[in-house]
Amino acid sequence: MSEKLRAVFHACVPRPIASAIRNLRQTLHLYKDSVLQAHRYNRNYSRVASTELTQLETRIMFLSHQIEKGLSHSDFRYGFGRKVFLELPAMLKSLELADSNYEENTVFQESMSALHEYMERHIRAGKDISWQKSLFTNEQWNRIKSANPSRGGSIVIRRSTKANNSLLPYAQLNEHRHSVREFSDEPVDVNLIEQAIDMAMRTPSVCNRQPTRVHLILNPEIITKALAIQGGVRGYAAPPALILITSDLRSFITSYERNEGFTDGGLFGMSLLLSLESLGLASCPLNTMFTAKADKDTRKLLNLPDNEVPVMYIEVGNFLEETRTCASVRYTGNQITTVIK
Ligand SMILES: Cc1cc2nc3c(=O)[nH]c(=O)nc-3n(C[C@H](O)[C@H](O)[C@H](O)COP(=O)(O)O)c2cc1C
Repeated sequence: MSEKLRAVFHACVPRPIASAIRNLRQTLHLYKDSVLQAHRYNRNYSRVASTELTQLETRIMFLSHQIEKGLSHSDFRYGFGRKVFLELPAMLKSLELADSNYEENTVFQESMSALHEYMERHIRAGKDISWQKSLFTNEQWNRIKSANPSRGGSIVIRRSTKANNSLLPYAQLNEHRHSVREFSDEPVDVNLIEQAIDMAMRTPSVCNRQPTRVHLILNPEIITKALAIQGGVRGYAAPPALILITSDLRSFITSYERNEGFTDGGLFGMSLLLSLESLGLASCPLNTMFTAKADKDTRKLLNLPDNEVPVMYIEVGNFLEETRTCASVRYTGNQITTVIK
């Protein structure tokens, strides 16, 4: 609408009607833009049987991460990962075809390292992995045998290394933080968690509207039920504390701000993870990528108001004296940066 038309509109149309028209326009935009967003997602996400390189890398990373999680488990279950083994060999083959330099590929190397550790630990314990071996070609198996073990797999985290966390410079604290999924039995100091939440309040947000909300769950029964719905840490004991980060939709003004709560909530989540780490607490972020049913069940369990949307969970507890976690190697900054000149 031109400036002139807008002026005429405001002069002639009573305010309540003008507001109703503006709100209707926003509603139409919301549905139209959401459909366009769904189309883009549908065109690009990594479906089963993808052959494009990044999509393949995504699926291989997902599967290798399952192996890394199994390798990190204190209750090591020999022969774990059968579903992963049914998919991974063919995908690694497809990656070889999609990337001529696949031996230098970060995801390929991580997968090889994780499989190498899997193989070593089974052989060392005298366990039979002939079924797993039968799924790979000889060439693949030899590559796994000779893989560099430092590109993936599991790493050890020691509580003793966390004593001076509050004194670490940012770069070191950041490098030093890892998600851990197993916690000591001691109760967690709620004052420390509250201190970490206060520290995370320095997180920036759009127009400083601060849409993030925090639900600190300390009831063991509710934590267990919430994680059973979430499903991403099956097989692990429940943590002593669970945080749900949500975003309050009332903080937004227009239809095109509809995703902003996830951005602001995500930033808050990262601040909170580092704050917890600096205070010597162990943590693991967990997704809230819920189906409609999981969303409904979680809302009911936690009594979440309709105006809040889940952004992520964070498990919190004390470090065990020693625990393993996924190496979760990273791409380099260069690999993900496009410079626009
Ligand atoms: C938003 C988000 C959701 C996550 N969801 C899960 C999950 O459901 N289960 C899990 O075991 N780990 C989950 N993680 C942890 C990631 O696996 C972990 O952050 C990643 O491997 C990087 O490792 P690091 O945190 O040790 O650096 C999640 C992490 C983020 C940021």
